Amino acid sequence: MSTVTIALSKGRIFDETLPLLAAAGIEPAENPETSRKLIIGTNRPEVRLVIVRPTDAPTYVQYGAADLGVAGRDVLYEHGGDGLYQPIDLRIARCKMMVAIPEGFDYESAVRQGNRLRVATKYMRAAREHFAAKGVHVDLIKLYGSMELAPLSGLADAIVDLVSTGNTLRANNLKAVEDIMAISSRLIVNQAALKLKRSLVQPIIEAIDQAVKRNA
Ligand code: PRP
Repeated sequence: MSTVTIALSKGRIFDETLPLLAAAGIEPAENPETSRKLIIGTNRPEVRLVIVRPTDAPTYVQYGAADLGVAGRDVLYEHGGDGLYQPIDLRIARCKMMVAIPEGFDYESAVRQGNRLRVATKYMRAAREHFAAKGVHVDLIKLYGSMELAPLSGLADAIVDLVSTGNTLRANNLKAVEDIMAISSRLIVNQAALKLKRSLVQPIIEAIDQAVKRNA
C-alpha cells in the first residue's frame, strides 16, 4: 500500500492545519503536544504525520521523508525551496517579519549617517537581502531564538524577527521600524511524490485548497 507522510510542527501550525486536514478527511489519532510521539497515525491507515521542528519541515519534504508539509514563508525563504512545490498559501500562522530596535535608538539617523549596524536574527537571508536593498551596512549576528534579548543586552543594535500581536516587542521596550515581508504558512509538496503518488496526494491538495478558499 502506498502511504502519504505529512510533516507538521507543533503549536500554532499544527493547530491551524487541523481543520484543513479534516477537510481532506484526515484526523490525527493523537495530539503531539501530549503524546510526545514524533510519528502519529491518522484515521486513514495510509496517511501519517511526522512532527518536526518548524525549520526542518522543508528539509523533510525536499528529501522525500515527508510527501507533504506545512512551513512558514520565513522558513521557506531561508531554506530556498529546492525540490518543493508550494501550491497553496494556507493563510494560517500569519505575522510580519520586521526590523525592531530599542525605544530611544535613533535608527533613522544611524542609517542616514551610514553607520554600520549590528543586527541579530535567525533570518539571515531575508535580513541580508533587506538591508542590501536599502544600502544599509550591517553585521548580521545569527541567533536561534529570543532575538529580543540581543539589543537589550548589548549584543546588537537591532533585530529582524517575526511580529504578531507586538506584545513581545512592547514587553521588552522595543519597537518595529520596518516591514520586511508578510508571513503565512504554505503547503509544501515533494516534487517526485506529486508525480509518483498523484492519486493519493492530489486529492489531499485539492481538499485543502477548497477549505482555504472557503475560509478566505
Ligand atoms: C515569535 C517571534 C516573537 C514572537 C512575536 O516567537 O520570534 O518572539 O513570536 O509574537 P507577538 O508579536 O505576538 O508577541 P515564537 O513564540 O514563535 O518562538 P521563537 O522565539 O522560537 O521564534
